[in-house]
Amino acid sequence: MNDLVKHSGLTVADDGAAISKGYMPGWANDFETEALPGALPQGLNSPQRCNYGLYGEQLSGTAFTANPPERTWCYRIRPSVKHSHRYKRIDLPYWKSAPCVDPDVISLGQYRWDAVAHTDEQLTWVTGMRTMTTAGDVNTQVGMASHVYLVNESMVDDYFFSADSELLVVPQEGRLRFATELGIIDVEPKEIAIIPRGLVYRVEVLEGPCRGFVCENYGQKFELPGRGPIGANCMANPRDFKAPVAAFEDREVPSTVTMKWCGQFHATKIDQSPLDVVAWHGNYTPYKYDLRAYCPVGAILFDHPDPSIFTVLTAPSGHPGTANIDFVLFRERWMVMEDTFRPPWYHKNIMSELMGNIYGQYDAKPQGFVPGGMSLHNMMLPHGPDKEAFEKASNANLGPDKLDNTMSFMFETRFPQHLTGFAANEAPLQDDYIDCWTDIEKKFDGTPGKK
Ligand SMILES: [Fe+2]
Repeated sequence: MNDLVKHSGLTVADDGAAISKGYMPGWANDFETEALPGALPQGLNSPQRCNYGLYGEQLSGTAFTANPPERTWCYRIRPSVKHSHRYKRIDLPYWKSAPCVDPDVISLGQYRWDAVAHTDEQLTWVTGMRTMTTAGDVNTQVGMASHVYLVNESMVDDYFFSADSELLVVPQEGRLRFATELGIIDVEPKEIAIIPRGLVYRVEVLEGPCRGFVCENYGQKFELPGRGPIGANCMANPRDFKAPVAAFEDREVPSTVTMKWCGQFHATKIDQSPLDVVAWHGNYTPYKYDLRAYCPVGAILFDHPDPSIFTVLTAPSGHPGTANIDFVLFRERWMVMEDTFRPPWYHKNIMSELMGNIYGQYDAKPQGFVPGGMSLHNMMLPHGPDKEAFEKASNANLGPDKLDNTMSFMFETRFPQHLTGFAANEAPLQDDYIDCWTDIEKKFDGTPGKK
């Protein structure tokens, strides 16, 4: 064992976990990786007998006939049927799924929250998930949910997977490790991780407490947006996405696997770690991305484009150009436009916009939208700069100006977002948010040339 481990560059922990921290670059590549030499069959997917006595198994993230199909071949110590036994329903009251429409909660409006505070309660990735909004329908695989996570405890012999969804993870505080069937991903603020539907994993706290945001995508997987006339460069570049190298655990210890399925949670008991994939190849993988690699594109003379210009990833719906979800990033950038009102303009939008602040100050709202905080501008509800932002932008000396120390994001969906009871009653909702537009003045008095 030690010779093999040395050869493959792995280290082996006392508990039998083969740990290899490393990533393979590229977007949706047909990757191949093995934690032990010769574990990956060459030239065929399903040999009569796999090396090391491994079992071959395919994980399909799309229909077989999708174009392109997304699937990964795994070569593992035990097939997944050994990691799934009888299920018993469990209750996770703070993790909600659409449709979740509380008749006592009004979702029609503009909302903003301070950061959800940490507590003394011990919370894992699974028990620390707090759903803020839901949209669409998890049973028909359309829509999404937005969550805040508060995590201060590692999962130990405890695993999770979601059959309902792909999870887009946006850390805001602390560092997390996702030990998955296909390898290890570490993430921290300014990075994101994407965990695909059906992949089993455990989440460990590397540096806590941890807080962040999750977009739970019930629909088609996130894709890179088409760049259109922008061409082959800028925005998110394919090489900056990183999939993990194979790593496995040969650890026989009583363990629990929790599964999210059609909005319900069930747990099963097994006798070993399910993270036992020694080698794999395919294009259905978890991955991470450093948001500092995102190259924003914008106006260089006057006016400015719609915020879709800042899309990092998009999850399509069946209607071309109308996303189930867009993940949009507002980061540091230069503003150089002449004779232009530079902040986001006032608008109403059929899409529903949930924003979160990772750090710094957002240009349309100098006050109140704090790091860790969120806002929701729901379907066709008007919004835009507050008075301070409007007056400042209307009277600014329009030289080149750098928006610095700012990183916010948006989960934008074609479906209206419904607040959960937690978002309406327990999270730190700013009751006075709508008042930020109250003191906007009427300037019009019929005088020509008045500005
Ligand atoms: Fe908006």
